[in-house]
Amino acid sequence: MTASELKPILVFDSGIGGLTVLREARVLMPERHFIYVADDAGFPYGGWEEAALKERVIALFGRLLSEHDPEICVIACNTAFTLVGADLRAAFPQMTFVGTVPAIKPAAERTRSGLVSVLATPGTVKRAYTRDLIQSFASQCHVRLVGSENLAKMAEAYIRGEKLDDETVLAEIAPCFVEMDGRKTDIVVLACTHYPFMANVFRRLAPWPVDWLDPAEAIARRARSLVPQPNGFEPLNGQDPAIFTSGKPDFATRRLMQGFGLTVALDAIGEKRAGHAEAIG
Ligand code: DGL
Repeated sequence: MTASELKPILVFDSGIGGLTVLREARVLMPERHFIYVADDAGFPYGGWEEAALKERVIALFGRLLSEHDPEICVIACNTAFTLVGADLRAAFPQMTFVGTVPAIKPAAERTRSGLVSVLATPGTVKRAYTRDLIQSFASQCHVRLVGSENLAKMAEAYIRGEKLDDETVLAEIAPCFVEMDGRKTDIVVLACTHYPFMANVFRRLAPWPVDWLDPAEAIARRARSLVPQPNGFEPLNGQDPAIFTSGKPDFATRRLMQGFGLTVALDAIGEKRAGHAEAIG
């Protein structure tokens, strides 16, 4: 199989957070094309009621898989995967799904103080999946779950070039910093793919230095291990497509996509997709 015969890899998120995973995946798989899908009509996922979000994501993948026939799908969204990962695999058994879940296991292995915080969306914090991860891999640690209502939206604004107020950001991350019996939190798991975009801001505002754990590279490695490798390397031409379920990402978002080598094919996501988004919303 040559590089030009390879099927694309679909990377999915509720918004632009999946780009943090896409950039790592591109480094590891330069021979591959990617399709980036943002369910921006449903963004943010963090506050959705579980049954409705499950139904929405399954319906959306029914369409995405038949329209784009990807090699594998990377669900670059903790909020979606911790809820719907098992259902996606059951609904589409012919497809390989690579998931994103809070990096609680590596955090528990690395912490020296035993105090670990998980910064996520309110949805991810509520999930049984997340509680199970803690029970299975971090029962010896003190784990503080911090579900932020606003950070995913703030990260979207930040990456589009809007200015954020330091105090407002600090209020979102402050609960991650715990002091107990002379020990302090030393690892904060970035359990929402939007958050690594703000890691430099978090570092600057943190009350003390911690390790901010971003799982993007590990997810990209996992994806790489699951796809066939081409015989010869052929440099890729052209940009990859980005699909927005709203059908109308704003100018700043389209420019951001371009910076990531992605073209928002407006024709392809016009009325048809907007109608679809309504039907499943
Ligand atoms: N990027 C998504 C995640 O990893 C969540 C953002 C949202 O609230 O939609 O959880």
